[in-house]
Amino acid sequence: MIASTPVGPNRTGETAAVLPPAPGSSAIDKSDRRVRRMFASIARRYDFLNHLLSLNIDRSWRSFTTRVAAPEPGLPVLDCCTGTADLALAYDRACHGRSRIVGADFCREMLVIGREKLRRAGAQGRVSLVEGDAQRLPVPSDTFGVVSVAFGLRNLRDTVRGIDELIRVARPGGKVAVLEFSRPRGRLLGRLYLAFFRQVLPRIGQALAPNEDAAYEYLPRSVLEFPDGQAMLDLLAARGLTALTQYSLTGGIATLYVGTKPVSARSPHPSEPTS
Ligand SMILES: C[S@@+](CC[C@H](N)C(=O)[O-])C[C@H]1O[C@@H](n2cnc3c(N)ncnc32)[C@H](O)[C@@H]1O
Repeated sequence: MIASTPVGPNRTGETAAVLPPAPGSSAIDKSDRRVRRMFASIARRYDFLNHLLSLNIDRSWRSFTTRVAAPEPGLPVLDCCTGTADLALAYDRACHGRSRIVGADFCREMLVIGREKLRRAGAQGRVSLVEGDAQRLPVPSDTFGVVSVAFGLRNLRDTVRGIDELIRVARPGGKVAVLEFSRPRGRLLGRLYLAFFRQVLPRIGQALAPNEDAAYEYLPRSVLEFPDGQAMLDLLAARGLTALTQYSLTGGIATLYVGTKPVSARSPHPSEPTS
């Protein structure tokens, strides 16, 4: 199920069959307003559909993330674009109460569901959810032992800015983990996946979570035009992460990218003069 490829910064090799547009030049409307409204409109059905459409495999991807980008006892974890807090809760289970977890998202409706889940799990004292934009995180620089984002980076209006923010708030030596959908490269799985993703998923999604933003058409479109594999590794390396490794999950349907913020890199707070 899982294959990993360690890489060094700027290593080139595998090239995506169809090159996606440069990050930040998306042809899809990813304005903050549209993305926030879209997730608000599907928030109540989001978990149900996630688990149904992935046959529950998404849970194993998140728990794999907490094992690979493992929390260090005592150091806080930040989960960006936390949505209904599934990865924040997975980190809470992995920490056994030894680290504080913060989840951040700019969609209040998703956070409302997340808070309800924290309450049910008895995790409110250990996990806090804050409303905030991943492109301007409302948290200090150089703070978190792990900064994660699951299925969120692709939705940002400005991918590069989002990556820079993940790196800014990680402690020097800390880990940045990006879990994202990717395109299976195998011939058969690749074709089946494309057919399911383009033809079946939008119909099921729209039927079970009706919304005016065609959220389940947006999903395949945004995945297919987003950098994955080597292209994503190159992008993360170009922004300054080192010791990058990618883990291909479930035949490449999703990929986990993990990198380290160099010990020598201290980030200025966005309001600090850089001189
Ligand atoms: C596909 S959901 C993923 C939720 C969760 N991480 C998971 O694993 O299920 C994407 C989330 O990213 C959030 N999001 C998108 N753009 C954002 C931004 N600029 N700032 C903060 N959150 C954002 C959305 O509100 C949504 O909750």
